[in-house]
Amino acid sequence: MTDKRKKLKRIGVFTSGGDAPGMNAAVRAVTRAALANKLEVIGIRRGFQGMIEGDFIKLRSSDVSHIMHLGGTFLQTARSTEFRQEEGRAKAWSQLKEAGIEAIVVIGGDGSFAGALEFSQEYDIPFVGIPGTIDNDMYGTDYTIGYDTALNTVVEAVDKIKDTASSHGRIFFVEVMGREAGQLALKAGIACGAEIIFLPEIQSEEKELELFLNKGYKQKKHSGIVMVAEGDSAGGAFKIAEKVQKEHPEIDVRVSILGHMQRGGNPSATDRVAATQMGVAAVEALLEDQKSIMVGLKNEQIVHVPLLKVVKMNRGIDEELLKIQQVINSVL
Ligand code: F6P
Repeated sequence: MTDKRKKLKRIGVFTSGGDAPGMNAAVRAVTRAALANKLEVIGIRRGFQGMIEGDFIKLRSSDVSHIMHLGGTFLQTARSTEFRQEEGRAKAWSQLKEAGIEAIVVIGGDGSFAGALEFSQEYDIPFVGIPGTIDNDMYGTDYTIGYDTALNTVVEAVDKIKDTASSHGRIFFVEVMGREAGQLALKAGIACGAEIIFLPEIQSEEKELELFLNKGYKQKKHSGIVMVAEGDSAGGAFKIAEKVQKEHPEIDVRVSILGHMQRGGNPSATDRVAATQMGVAAVEALLEDQKSIMVGLKNEQIVHVPLLKVVKMNRGIDEELLKIQQVINSVL
């Protein structure tokens, strides 16, 4: 039998964009899968910025021991403005050539994939992407690394907020991350029993909120949680709460912005397993001579999706979950 696998000697791996719990598990899986296939692995520190600066470290198996349970990314990450310039990318290319890196696994969101795609169109180097962002907003995969952990972090925080909300009879506006996508807010809102969920993808929440305040809160319920995705067009939790306070001065309103705590913490088992599946699949894909693709998960099976599609298409909101939320909250 002839070995059709691509002859690679050395690959690079890096994390990019916002960190997400499970990125370390993905780096570990890429490293171990590569070493199992007799490839050398170079960790590129601080994303594209580290690539420009040649901030590389050789990864041995022992270098990725005891990291899979840790949040953040031990390779660190960055949002590099220099890489957006042709000059920056040229510097990155010469660093990669000098280090003998022949193919790369990029772990990040669609902004990072757009950078990788542009780079691979200018220079001859294959990239395979692993979706890593707490937003779970990427086209072509059911799942992005970090989402499950962030979701559980939000649920734990809101459960605590609910205790104080019901003790004081208050309405809390809880803002969760998601500049352009409401997946995290939607699922967290369902899991926490939020009365209303403000999402960037939907415009009708203000009417629902008014209905809840007048018919639900004032007549039946004595506290409430309004979940707000930070990118919602109403302007975020503070703005919505301010408006409600003005229009209903008798209601006791509070705001809680969960912020970057959502990105930290030990990855959940789901994130560790998904990261490991995708890490191994990414190395396999490079050995199969694939380029400019993302490895994703659909119905828990690995899929390959062209990076071009991932960066161009929108995942959109989960309509089924949206319907469920509307049914549950239609009874005031
Ligand atoms: O994309 C992940 C994410 O956490 C978004 O939900 C959030 O809007 C953004 O990153 C925040 O980015 P930064 O940490 O750079 O402020």
